[in-house]
Amino acid sequence: MKIITLFATLLLLNTSSVLAGEGGDLYKQSCAQCHGAHREGGVGPSLLKRPWVKVNGKKDSLQRFISEGLPNTGMPAWKNVLNPKQIAAIAEYLLQPEPAAQAASTKEAPADTYPELKKFRLPVGFSISVYSDQLENARGMAVTASGIVFVGSRKVGKIYAVINSGKDSVPPKVVTVATGLDSPIGLTLLNGSLYVAEMTRVIRFDDIEKTYEKSPQLHVVKDDFPKDKWHGEKIIKAGPDGKLYIPIGAPCNVCDKEDAPHSKIYRMNPDGSGFEIYARGIRNSVGFAWHPVTREMWFTDNGRDEMGDNMPSDKLNYAPKPGMHFGFPYCAGGVVEDPEFHKNRRCEEFAEPAAKLGPHVASLGLAYNEGTQFPAQYKNQLFIAEHGSWNRTQKIGYRVALITLHNNKVVSDTVFVDGFLQDEKVIGRPVDIAFLPDGSMLISDDFGGRIYRVSYSEKTKP
Ligand code: HEC
Repeated sequence: MKIITLFATLLLLNTSSVLAGEGGDLYKQSCAQCHGAHREGGVGPSLLKRPWVKVNGKKDSLQRFISEGLPNTGMPAWKNVLNPKQIAAIAEYLLQPEPAAQAASTKEAPADTYPELKKFRLPVGFSISVYSDQLENARGMAVTASGIVFVGSRKVGKIYAVINSGKDSVPPKVVTVATGLDSPIGLTLLNGSLYVAEMTRVIRFDDIEKTYEKSPQLHVVKDDFPKDKWHGEKIIKAGPDGKLYIPIGAPCNVCDKEDAPHSKIYRMNPDGSGFEIYARGIRNSVGFAWHPVTREMWFTDNGRDEMGDNMPSDKLNYAPKPGMHFGFPYCAGGVVEDPEFHKNRRCEEFAEPAAKLGPHVASLGLAYNEGTQFPAQYKNQLFIAEHGSWNRTQKIGYRVALITLHNNKVVSDTVFVDGFLQDEKVIGRPVDIAFLPDGSMLISDDFGGRIYRVSYSEKTKP
């Protein structure tokens, strides 16, 4: 009965509002109510996957089917509502290949759902897949020992939990843990709680593995951060000393905030007490990691803009002890006195970068590989997500770099995953790196709303 009433309403709507237009627009006006805005189905069946049940994929028989409908099934006849040209346009539209985003909403992911993966390049034996594509704005990640991946976001203000289905062919389940947050890009696990850094406060959800599906209660840990929006988004990571580390970025492209709370990294106790400066002279760090053996801190810092395409370099910094100064805003990229802000201070006064990662690559999250899935030479090595440049003439970054260390010195900086930029087209923008308990690597991507997974297998070697 419902379908019939709906159909009557539709007839009215259609006779008055159908304008000659593209098949896609006509579909939205006449068909979407039953077959879904993206052809995913509703009252009527999904029109995404062919072969269809009641009609074959040839244009003329599809046009005939749309004209005549299927009596007594709820599929209306359209010949008295739409003219042949309009029906032909809709048929044309339905026969187009599915756009990727629509295919993504179907449950199972056939091998060719992500043809762009074919152009990714990784070292021999490694492969990449899409772990989940249901994570709008995916940013920071934190993985529990049981393999639940918590994921932060930006403007959508959500925290997600991604739970492995146990089968490679079935995508993991995605649960929204919290909504309405203010750019919750950073998160970390400590003592069973999930800590989240929003724009101006740190919050906590307790006993998260038991509560993530039940709208867990939010506790405010600290809410007196500066209110600046520029570089105001914050990561947060629990250090090996049981403290929470958090940056306050410079609220500008370049400015001297030596005597203000900005351009520093802080640490504090899990309850928000004991808030203290850990490191100074940092423009905007969006990645911290501690070496698995030495337990010393490493972090990325993004260089200033407006010094041209090739200056200054983003940095990997090494901060084994508190109180170090990394040179911002006086020394750019660790090598040149800043043209406007040097105030006669010399680069030699400050901690040297451990590695110069390239201009405008936007190095964000980083992680050490502690697992055993990757071959032995990758053990305890460092991987860095390069979000990619936004303002450089020729795009740069858009990859995951492998940094090899020997005695705390960087000996090489090579490309580990390439393919997030294909023929100048952005496929994804890597944000953070984490590892699942099985040792495979996850890469979050806030452009595609995805998490990629990199696995190693002897079998895939030629
Ligand atoms: C009032 C709801 C409704 C509307 C509006 C509607 N359909 Fe349908 N459609 C159905 C139903 C229900 C079926 C399934 C009929 C069956 O299987 O018995 C169907 C089946 C179909 C099928 C066959 C699918 C298959 O797997 O065989 C096609 C193609 C189709 N519709 C196209 C359209 C187009 C194009 C429009 C817009 C011009 C449209 N439909 C509008 C309800 C609707």
